[in-house]
Amino acid sequence: MNRLTNKQIILGVTGGIAAYKSAELVRGLQKAGAKVRVVMTSSACEFITPLTLQALSGNPVHIDLLDTKAEAAMGHIELARWADLVLIAPASASFISRLSRGSGEDLLSTLCLATDSQIALAPAMNQAMWRDSATQTNLEMLTEKGVKILGPDEGEQACGDVGLGRMLDVDQLLIEVREFFQSHELNGRHVMITAGPTREAIDPVRYISNESSGKMGFAMAEAAVDAGAKVTLVTGPVNLETPEHVERIDVISTADMHRAVFKNLPNCDIFIGSAAVADYRPTQVADRKIKKGDEDHAMTIELIRNPDIIAEVAASASRPFTVGFAAETHNLIEYAQKKLKQKNLDLIIANDVADKQIGFNSNDNEVTLISRKDSTVLPKMSKAKLARLLIDQLAQHYLSSKQEADV
Ligand code: C5P
Repeated sequence: MNRLTNKQIILGVTGGIAAYKSAELVRGLQKAGAKVRVVMTSSACEFITPLTLQALSGNPVHIDLLDTKAEAAMGHIELARWADLVLIAPASASFISRLSRGSGEDLLSTLCLATDSQIALAPAMNQAMWRDSATQTNLEMLTEKGVKILGPDEGEQACGDVGLGRMLDVDQLLIEVREFFQSHELNGRHVMITAGPTREAIDPVRYISNESSGKMGFAMAEAAVDAGAKVTLVTGPVNLETPEHVERIDVISTADMHRAVFKNLPNCDIFIGSAAVADYRPTQVADRKIKKGDEDHAMTIELIRNPDIIAEVAASASRPFTVGFAAETHNLIEYAQKKLKQKNLDLIIANDVADKQIGFNSNDNEVTLISRKDSTVLPKMSKAKLARLLIDQLAQHYLSSKQEADV
Protein backbone atom coordinates (compact mmCIF):
# COMPACT_ATOMS: atom_id res chain seq x y z
CA MET A 1 0.00 0.00 0.00
CA ASN A 2 1.24 3.49 -0.82
CA ARG A 3 2.58 5.50 2.02
CA LEU A 4 1.92 9.16 2.77
CA THR A 5 5.53 10.32 2.52
CA ASN A 6 5.81 14.13 2.46
CA LYS A 7 2.04 14.63 2.53
CA GLN A 8 1.16 17.58 4.77
CA ILE A 9 -1.98 16.95 6.77
CA ILE A 10 -3.81 19.19 9.22
CA LEU A 11 -5.76 17.09 11.66
CA GLY A 12 -8.66 19.12 13.05
CA VAL A 13 -10.03 17.74 16.32
CA THR A 14 -13.43 18.90 17.57
CA GLY A 15 -15.30 18.21 20.83
CA GLY A 16 -16.62 14.67 21.11
CA ILE A 17 -15.83 11.45 22.93
CA ALA A 18 -14.17 10.05 19.78
CA ALA A 19 -11.45 12.72 20.23
CA TYR A 20 -9.43 10.13 22.15
CA LYS A 21 -8.95 8.28 18.84
CA SER A 22 -7.16 11.34 17.40
CA ALA A 23 -4.03 10.31 19.27
CA GLU A 24 -3.97 6.99 17.41
CA LEU A 25 -4.78 8.78 14.16
CA VAL A 26 -1.79 11.13 14.55
CA ARG A 27 0.44 8.09 15.11
CA GLY A 28 -1.00 6.24 12.12
CA LEU A 29 -0.59 9.21 9.77
CA GLN A 30 2.97 9.79 10.90
CA LYS A 31 3.87 6.12 10.67
CA ALA A 32 2.69 6.26 7.06
CA GLY A 33 5.14 9.12 6.45
CA ALA A 34 2.82 12.17 6.63
CA LYS A 35 3.72 15.45 8.30
CA VAL A 36 0.94 16.26 10.76
CA ARG A 37 -0.10 19.52 12.44
CA VAL A 38 -2.99 19.43 14.86
CA VAL A 39 -5.64 22.14 15.25
CA MET A 40 -8.11 21.70 18.13
CA THR A 41 -11.31 23.49 19.01
CA SER A 42 -11.60 24.59 22.64
CA SER A 43 -14.23 21.91 23.32
CA ALA A 44 -11.89 19.21 21.95
CA CYS A 45 -9.49 20.18 24.74
CA GLU A 46 -12.14 18.97 27.24
CA PHE A 47 -11.76 15.45 25.83
CA ILE A 48 -8.04 15.13 25.09
CA THR A 49 -5.16 17.37 26.11
CA PRO A 50 -3.27 19.44 23.56
CA LEU A 51 -0.08 18.22 25.25
CA THR A 52 -0.82 14.62 24.20
CA LEU A 53 -1.32 15.60 20.56
CA GLN A 54 1.66 17.97 20.65
CA ALA A 55 3.93 15.22 21.96
CA LEU A 56 2.68 12.74 19.36
CA SER A 57 2.76 15.09 16.36
CA GLY A 58 6.06 16.70 17.39
CA ASN A 59 4.57 20.11 16.56
CA PRO A 60 2.82 22.76 18.65
CA VAL A 61 -0.96 22.30 18.69
CA HIS A 62 -2.93 25.26 17.36
CA ILE A 63 -6.08 26.21 19.28
CA ASP A 64 -6.77 29.95 19.41
CA LEU A 65 -7.35 32.25 16.50
CA LEU A 66 -6.08 35.21 18.46
CA ASP A 67 -2.94 33.63 19.96
CA THR A 68 -0.15 36.03 18.93
CA LYS A 69 2.61 33.53 19.77
CA ALA A 70 1.10 30.76 17.67
CA GLU A 71 0.31 33.18 14.83
CA ALA A 72 3.91 34.39 14.84
CA ALA A 73 5.17 30.78 14.57
CA MET A 74 2.74 29.68 11.83
CA GLY A 75 -0.30 31.88 11.22
CA HIS A 76 -3.68 30.49 10.24
CA ILE A 77 -3.31 31.55 6.60
CA GLU A 78 0.11 29.92 6.43
CA LEU A 79 -1.35 26.74 7.98
CA ALA A 80 -4.19 26.80 5.44
CA ARG A 81 -1.65 27.00 2.60
CA TRP A 82 0.66 24.40 4.15
CA ALA A 83 -1.98 21.67 4.15
CA ASP A 84 -2.38 19.17 1.35
CA LEU A 85 -5.42 17.85 3.20
CA VAL A 86 -7.47 19.14 6.14
CA LEU A 87 -8.91 16.12 7.93
CA ILE A 88 -11.38 16.81 10.72
CA ALA A 89 -11.76 13.78 12.92
CA PRO A 90 -13.90 13.67 14.92
CA ALA A 91 -16.21 16.26 13.37
CA SER A 92 -18.99 17.12 15.81
CA ALA A 93 -22.52 18.16 14.75
CA SER A 94 -21.81 21.64 16.04
CA PHE A 95 -18.60 21.98 14.01
CA ILE A 96 -20.35 20.66 10.88
CA SER A 97 -23.00 23.33 11.39
CA ARG A 98 -20.36 26.08 11.78
CA LEU A 99 -18.53 24.88 8.69
CA SER A 100 -21.67 24.78 6.57
CA ARG A 101 -22.48 28.37 7.59
CA GLY A 102 -18.97 29.46 6.63
CA SER A 103 -18.42 30.77 10.12
CA GLY A 104 -14.97 31.97 11.08
CA GLU A 105 -15.60 31.97 14.84
CA ASP A 106 -12.70 29.71 15.75
CA LEU A 107 -9.30 28.83 14.34
CA LEU A 108 -10.34 25.52 12.73
CA SER A 109 -13.36 26.90 10.87
CA THR A 110 -11.39 30.00 9.80
CA LEU A 111 -8.65 27.77 8.45
CA CYS A 112 -11.23 25.75 6.51
CA LEU A 113 -12.47 28.99 4.94
CA ALA A 114 -8.94 30.00 4.01
CA THR A 115 -7.69 26.74 2.52
CA ASP A 116 -7.76 25.74 -1.15
CA SER A 117 -6.95 22.17 -0.19
CA GLN A 118 -9.32 19.26 0.16
CA ILE A 119 -11.33 19.15 3.40
CA ALA A 120 -12.50 15.78 4.72
CA LEU A 121 -14.81 15.24 7.69
CA ALA A 122 -15.18 12.13 9.83
CA PRO A 123 -18.46 12.81 11.64
CA ALA A 124 -18.93 11.44 15.16
CA MET A 125 -22.15 12.02 17.07
CA ASN A 126 -25.18 10.42 18.63
CA GLN A 127 -27.39 8.55 16.13
CA ALA A 128 -30.37 10.90 16.65
CA MET A 129 -28.17 13.94 16.04
CA TRP A 130 -26.85 12.27 12.88
CA ARG A 131 -30.35 11.57 11.58
CA ASP A 132 -31.59 15.07 12.34
CA SER A 133 -32.55 16.96 9.19
CA ALA A 134 -30.42 19.97 10.21
CA THR A 135 -27.28 17.80 10.26
CA GLN A 136 -28.21 16.14 6.98
CA THR A 137 -28.89 19.50 5.28
CA ASN A 138 -25.55 20.85 6.52
CA LEU A 139 -23.74 17.79 5.17
CA GLU A 140 -25.48 18.08 1.80
CA MET A 141 -24.34 21.70 1.53
CA LEU A 142 -20.77 20.75 2.42
CA THR A 143 -20.73 17.83 -0.03
CA GLU A 144 -21.89 20.20 -2.77
CA LYS A 145 -18.94 22.45 -1.94
CA GLY A 146 -16.59 19.52 -2.43
CA VAL A 147 -16.02 18.54 1.21
CA LYS A 148 -15.56 14.76 1.56
CA ILE A 149 -17.57 12.98 4.25
CA LEU A 150 -15.88 9.85 5.62
CA GLY A 151 -18.36 7.58 7.39
CA PRO A 152 -19.90 7.51 9.92
CA ASP A 153 -19.96 3.92 11.09
CA GLU A 154 -22.82 2.01 12.60
CA GLY A 155 -22.79 0.32 16.00
CA GLU A 156 -22.93 0.81 19.73
CA GLN A 157 -22.33 4.39 20.84
CA ALA A 158 -20.68 5.84 23.95
CA CYS A 159 -24.13 7.00 25.19
CA GLY A 160 -25.55 3.47 24.93
CA ASP A 161 -27.57 4.08 21.72
CA VAL A 162 -27.08 1.86 18.70
CA GLY A 163 -27.07 3.26 15.15
CA LEU A 164 -25.19 5.41 12.64
CA GLY A 165 -22.90 8.08 14.06
CA ARG A 166 -19.71 6.40 15.31
CA MET A 167 -16.50 7.79 13.89
CA LEU A 168 -14.84 5.46 11.35
CA ASP A 169 -12.10 3.27 12.79
CA VAL A 170 -8.63 4.76 12.61
CA ASP A 171 -7.50 2.02 10.18
CA GLN A 172 -10.40 2.78 7.86
CA LEU A 173 -9.65 6.52 8.05
CA LEU A 174 -6.04 5.83 7.10
CA ILE A 175 -7.20 3.86 4.05
CA GLU A 176 -9.48 6.77 3.03
CA VAL A 177 -6.66 9.30 3.45
CA ARG A 178 -4.32 7.20 1.31
CA GLU A 179 -7.06 6.87 -1.30
CA PHE A 180 -7.41 10.65 -1.37
CA PHE A 181 -3.80 10.97 -2.54
CA GLN A 182 -4.20 8.33 -5.27
CA SER A 183 -5.78 9.90 -8.35
CA HIS A 184 -5.46 6.81 -10.62
CA GLU A 185 -5.39 9.22 -13.62
CA LEU A 186 -2.20 7.65 -14.96
CA ASN A 187 -2.88 4.02 -14.05
CA GLY A 188 -0.94 1.69 -16.31
CA ARG A 189 1.04 4.52 -17.97
CA HIS A 190 4.82 4.75 -18.07
CA VAL A 191 6.21 8.19 -17.25
CA MET A 192 9.90 9.04 -17.69
CA ILE A 193 11.27 12.15 -15.98
CA THR A 194 14.72 13.75 -16.22
CA ALA A 195 15.88 15.76 -13.22
CA GLY A 196 18.77 17.68 -11.71
CA PRO A 197 21.79 19.14 -13.47
CA THR A 198 24.21 17.36 -15.77
CA ARG A 199 27.95 17.63 -15.23
CA GLU A 200 30.49 17.99 -18.02
CA ALA A 201 34.06 17.04 -17.13
CA ILE A 202 36.95 19.40 -17.95
CA ASP A 203 39.57 17.14 -16.36
CA PRO A 204 39.40 14.39 -13.68
CA VAL A 205 38.59 16.89 -10.88
CA ARG A 206 36.81 19.80 -12.59
CA TYR A 207 33.50 20.15 -14.35
CA ILE A 208 30.89 22.55 -15.75
CA SER A 209 27.44 22.31 -14.19
CA ASN A 210 24.57 24.43 -12.89
CA GLU A 211 22.48 25.23 -9.79
CA SER A 212 19.64 22.76 -10.38
CA SER A 213 18.71 20.89 -7.17
CA GLY A 214 16.44 18.32 -8.84
CA LYS A 215 13.65 19.06 -6.33
CA MET A 216 10.99 19.81 -8.94
CA GLY A 217 11.71 16.67 -10.99
CA PHE A 218 11.71 14.49 -7.87
CA ALA A 219 8.42 16.03 -6.74
CA MET A 220 6.95 15.36 -10.20
CA ALA A 221 8.11 11.72 -9.95
CA GLU A 222 6.38 11.32 -6.58
CA ALA A 223 3.19 12.93 -7.88
CA ALA A 224 3.21 10.70 -10.99
CA VAL A 225 3.46 7.60 -8.76
CA ASP A 226 0.50 8.90 -6.74
CA ALA A 227 -1.41 9.23 -10.01
CA GLY A 228 -0.84 5.51 -10.65
CA ALA A 229 2.03 5.69 -13.17
CA LYS A 230 5.12 3.50 -13.46
CA VAL A 231 7.89 6.07 -13.13
CA THR A 232 11.48 6.08 -14.37
CA LEU A 233 13.54 8.99 -13.03
CA VAL A 234 16.79 9.72 -14.85
CA THR A 235 18.73 12.09 -12.64
CA GLY A 236 21.98 13.99 -12.68
CA PRO A 237 23.99 14.38 -9.45
CA VAL A 238 21.61 15.57 -6.69
CA ASN A 239 21.31 15.21 -2.97
CA LEU A 240 17.78 13.83 -2.75
CA GLU A 241 16.13 10.63 -1.57
CA THR A 242 14.46 8.46 -4.18
CA PRO A 243 10.66 8.69 -3.92
CA GLU A 244 8.95 5.35 -3.20
CA HIS A 245 8.08 3.08 -6.13
CA VAL A 246 10.26 5.11 -8.50
CA GLU A 247 12.91 3.46 -10.67
CA ARG A 248 15.92 5.78 -10.39
CA ILE A 249 18.78 5.88 -12.88
CA ASP A 250 21.76 8.00 -11.85
CA VAL A 251 23.76 9.70 -14.55
CA ILE A 252 26.51 12.33 -14.63
CA SER A 253 26.90 13.84 -18.08
CA THR A 254 24.42 14.82 -20.79
CA ALA A 255 25.70 11.91 -22.92
CA ASP A 256 24.89 9.50 -20.02
CA MET A 257 21.43 11.04 -19.65
CA HIS A 258 20.82 10.81 -23.39
CA ARG A 259 21.77 7.11 -23.37
CA ALA A 260 19.60 6.27 -20.35
CA VAL A 261 16.59 8.12 -21.77
CA PHE A 262 16.72 6.39 -25.15
CA LYS A 263 17.26 2.98 -23.56
CA ASN A 264 14.03 3.45 -21.60
CA LEU A 265 12.01 5.26 -24.27
CA PRO A 266 10.21 2.25 -25.81
CA ASN A 267 6.77 1.95 -24.15
CA CYS A 268 7.10 5.37 -22.52
CA ASP A 269 3.75 7.22 -22.63
CA ILE A 270 4.78 10.55 -21.13
CA PHE A 271 8.22 12.18 -21.07
CA ILE A 272 8.89 15.11 -18.72
CA GLY A 273 12.21 16.91 -19.18
CA SER A 274 12.81 18.77 -15.96
CA ALA A 275 16.59 18.35 -15.98
CA ALA A 276 18.76 21.45 -16.41
CA VAL A 277 20.85 19.82 -19.11
CA ALA A 278 24.23 21.40 -19.85
CA ASP A 279 23.96 22.82 -23.35
CA TYR A 280 27.72 22.49 -24.04
CA ARG A 281 30.59 20.20 -22.99
CA PRO A 282 34.35 20.64 -23.35
CA THR A 283 35.50 19.42 -26.75
CA GLN A 284 38.26 17.49 -25.04
CA VAL A 285 38.45 16.11 -21.51
CA ALA A 286 42.01 16.17 -20.16
CA ASP A 287 42.95 12.80 -18.70
CA ARG A 288 45.17 14.47 -16.08
CA LYS A 289 44.52 17.53 -13.89
CA ILE A 290 45.22 20.67 -15.91
CA LYS A 291 48.11 22.69 -14.37
CA LYS A 292 48.33 26.46 -14.57
CA GLY A 293 51.41 27.77 -16.34
CA ASP A 294 53.54 30.50 -14.65
CA GLU A 295 52.75 33.05 -17.33
CA ASP A 296 49.09 32.14 -18.01
CA HIS A 297 46.67 35.00 -17.31
CA ALA A 298 43.82 33.42 -19.17
CA MET A 299 42.86 30.06 -20.52
CA THR A 300 40.33 28.95 -23.06
CA ILE A 301 38.18 25.87 -22.95
CA GLU A 302 36.59 24.99 -26.22
CA LEU A 303 33.02 23.79 -25.92
CA ILE A 304 30.87 21.77 -28.24
CA ARG A 305 27.06 21.58 -28.33
CA ASN A 306 25.36 18.72 -26.46
CA PRO A 307 22.43 16.82 -27.98
CA ASP A 308 19.03 18.29 -27.12
CA ILE A 309 17.51 15.27 -25.37
CA ILE A 310 13.92 16.46 -25.24
CA ALA A 311 13.90 17.65 -28.86
CA GLU A 312 15.20 14.23 -29.95
CA VAL A 313 12.56 12.48 -27.83
CA ALA A 314 9.84 14.62 -29.44
CA ALA A 315 11.22 13.80 -32.89
CA SER A 316 11.55 10.05 -32.26
CA ALA A 317 9.40 7.47 -34.02
CA SER A 318 7.77 6.33 -30.78
CA ARG A 319 7.15 9.92 -29.65
CA PRO A 320 5.60 10.02 -26.17
CA PHE A 321 3.50 12.95 -24.90
CA THR A 322 6.38 15.37 -24.32
CA VAL A 323 6.56 18.02 -21.60
CA GLY A 324 9.46 20.45 -21.15
CA PHE A 325 10.51 23.08 -18.65
CA ALA A 326 11.69 26.56 -19.55
CA ALA A 327 13.82 28.14 -16.84
CA GLU A 328 14.40 31.77 -17.78
CA THR A 329 15.59 34.95 -16.14
CA HIS A 330 13.71 37.29 -18.55
CA ASN A 331 11.03 37.30 -21.28
CA LEU A 332 9.76 34.09 -19.67
CA ILE A 333 6.52 33.43 -21.54
CA GLU A 334 7.84 34.54 -24.93
CA TYR A 335 10.89 32.25 -24.71
CA ALA A 336 8.80 29.37 -23.35
CA GLN A 337 6.32 29.61 -26.25
CA LYS A 338 9.19 29.68 -28.71
CA LYS A 339 10.71 26.53 -27.15
CA LEU A 340 7.36 24.74 -27.17
CA LYS A 341 7.26 25.14 -30.98
CA GLN A 342 10.98 24.72 -31.72
CA LYS A 343 11.27 21.49 -29.74
CA ASN A 344 7.81 20.28 -30.85
CA LEU A 345 6.56 19.78 -27.27
CA ASP A 346 2.99 19.16 -26.13
CA LEU A 347 3.34 21.30 -23.01
CA ILE A 348 5.95 23.55 -21.47
CA ILE A 349 6.24 24.65 -17.85
CA ALA A 350 7.67 28.17 -17.65
CA ASN A 351 9.68 28.95 -14.54
CA ASP A 352 11.19 32.36 -13.61
CA VAL A 353 14.61 31.51 -12.14
CA ALA A 354 15.61 35.17 -11.62
CA ASP A 355 13.36 35.21 -8.54
CA LYS A 356 15.35 33.56 -5.70
CA GLN A 357 12.10 32.77 -3.79
CA ILE A 358 11.15 30.30 -6.50
CA GLY A 359 12.97 28.16 -9.03
CA PHE A 360 16.27 26.31 -8.85
CA ASN A 361 17.29 25.72 -5.22
CA SER A 362 14.17 26.86 -3.35
CA ASN A 363 11.37 24.71 -1.91
CA ASP A 364 8.65 26.80 -3.54
CA ASN A 365 7.87 27.44 -7.15
CA GLU A 366 5.45 29.40 -9.30
CA VAL A 367 4.97 28.42 -12.93
CA THR A 368 2.90 28.94 -16.05
CA LEU A 369 1.76 25.82 -17.89
CA ILE A 370 1.65 26.56 -21.62
CA SER A 371 0.02 24.37 -24.26
CA ARG A 372 -0.48 25.01 -27.99
CA LYS A 373 -3.92 26.41 -27.19
CA ASP A 374 -3.77 28.16 -23.83
CA SER A 375 -1.82 28.87 -20.66
CA THR A 376 -2.52 28.51 -16.92
CA VAL A 377 -0.71 30.30 -14.10
CA LEU A 378 -0.11 28.17 -11.02
CA PRO A 379 0.70 30.58 -8.16
CA LYS A 380 3.54 30.21 -5.65
CA MET A 381 3.30 27.07 -3.52
CA SER A 382 5.51 24.20 -2.33
CA LYS A 383 7.14 22.17 -5.10
CA ALA A 384 5.35 19.03 -3.81
CA LYS A 385 1.91 20.65 -4.03
CA LEU A 386 2.70 22.24 -7.37
CA ALA A 387 3.92 18.91 -8.73
CA ARG A 388 0.58 17.28 -7.84
CA LEU A 389 -1.33 20.06 -9.63
CA LEU A 390 0.98 19.86 -12.63
CA ILE A 391 0.65 16.09 -12.92
CA ASP A 392 -3.12 16.44 -12.68
CA GLN A 393 -3.25 19.07 -15.47
CA LEU A 394 -0.70 17.21 -17.55
CA ALA A 395 -2.73 13.97 -17.22
CA GLN A 396 -5.84 15.79 -18.44
CA HIS A 397 -3.99 17.19 -21.47
CA TYR A 398 -2.47 13.77 -22.15
CA LEU A 399 -5.81 11.92 -21.90
CA SER A 400 -7.61 14.42 -24.13
CA SER A 401 -4.81 14.21 -26.72
CA LYS A 402 -5.32 10.41 -26.71
CA GLN A 403 -9.06 10.86 -27.18
CA GLU A 404 -8.50 13.26 -30.09
CA ALA A 405 -6.08 10.76 -31.67
CA ASP A 406 -8.66 7.96 -31.30
CA VAL A 407 -11.49 9.89 -33.01
O1 C5P B 1 16.70 25.00 -24.42
P1 C5P B 1 16.50 24.90 -22.93
O2 C5P B 1 17.67 24.28 -22.22
O3 C5P B 1 16.10 26.17 -22.26
O4 C5P B 1 15.23 23.94 -22.81
C1 C5P B 1 14.77 23.45 -21.61
C2 C5P B 1 14.06 22.15 -21.81
O5 C5P B 1 14.80 21.31 -22.70
C3 C5P B 1 13.99 21.37 -20.52
O6 C5P B 1 12.81 20.59 -20.58
C4 C5P B 1 15.25 20.52 -20.55
O7 C5P B 1 15.14 19.39 -19.72
C5 C5P B 1 15.33 20.18 -22.02
N1 C5P B 1 16.72 20.02 -22.54
C6 C5P B 1 17.17 18.77 -22.96
N2 C5P B 1 18.43 18.63 -23.51
C7 C5P B 1 19.23 19.69 -23.65
C8 C5P B 1 18.80 20.96 -23.24
C9 C5P B 1 17.54 21.08 -22.67
O8 C5P B 1 16.42 17.79 -22.82
N3 C5P B 1 20.44 19.52 -24.16
